[in-house]
Amino acid sequence: MRKKISIIGAGFVGSTTAHWCAAAELGDIVLLDIVEGIPQGKGLDLYQAGPIMGFDARITGTNDYADTANSDVIVVTSGAPRKPGMSREDLIKVNADITRDCVTKSAPLSPNAVIIMVNNPLDAMTYVAAEVSGFPKERVMGQAGVLDSARYRTFIAMETGVSVEDIQAMLMGGHGDEMVPLPRFSTIGGIPVTEFIPKERLDAIVERTRKGGGEIVNLLKTGSAYYAPAAATAQMVEAVLKDKKRLIAVSAYLTGQYGLSDMYFGVPVILGAGGIEKIIELPLNEEEMALLKKSADAVRSTIETLKTL
Ligand code: 2OP
Repeated sequence: MRKKISIIGAGFVGSTTAHWCAAAELGDIVLLDIVEGIPQGKGLDLYQAGPIMGFDARITGTNDYADTANSDVIVVTSGAPRKPGMSREDLIKVNADITRDCVTKSAPLSPNAVIIMVNNPLDAMTYVAAEVSGFPKERVMGQAGVLDSARYRTFIAMETGVSVEDIQAMLMGGHGDEMVPLPRFSTIGGIPVTEFIPKERLDAIVERTRKGGGEIVNLLKTGSAYYAPAAATAQMVEAVLKDKKRLIAVSAYLTGQYGLSDMYFGVPVILGAGGIEKIIELPLNEEEMALLKKSADAVRSTIETLKTL
């Protein structure tokens, strides 16, 4: 039997996630939105791309949560995107309410699912989803590190002219402007990136990566990025459904790792059928730890704000 993926929110990120998941034949897809007609129309349109592109995936567009029952993975993309000048944190109130609603309605119908959160502010929304669903924390996670490290890898490829496929990069921390790209743990074909790029250029790449989401918001003017966020989400869906044991950065619940607890935060994990199967603790140096702490303080303060709403 095919796996079942429910994607809540049929906006750009949700529908593009459905697109990547269908094209990769990861399973049958339910695309849900509160707006009538949009998920049905986009779902049918994507279904009809199957004969051309050669993928078998049943895609159902719906406004009814009952259609999401017994999902293997639930992806939550619903929420307001940023406008130019806004931080991800500015979205907290409206998106916390939306997240509570989506998770309250979807989680009880799919008690064995893995939940992947994609809306912003990401780490805080993942915290809300874990709380509302009551799921074991390893089955609730946020998508950010795959996206942010893909941006970092793209900028390294642009700088060096080497294929993106040969660039491996680790990035930790919250999905905000304080995120922590880690040049010491980034390589090109297994060779440290510092052998190819001088420090001041690498510093500029790190800074551009941190502001990578905002760069796209400023260009689009209405809405935020969706191709890369959706591709990153599909990669996480694949890791779970195919039990791939990928070593990637995701927003995971910490219980003392890196000196942090009771928060969702971007760290390297092993991602497989059980969700987050292991959190990897990298031997960070003093400077890297200080940057991580700054990022953690920002996420912590957003989570605290959430508790006062
Ligand atoms: C981004 O970084 C929307 O947070 C998302 O593009």
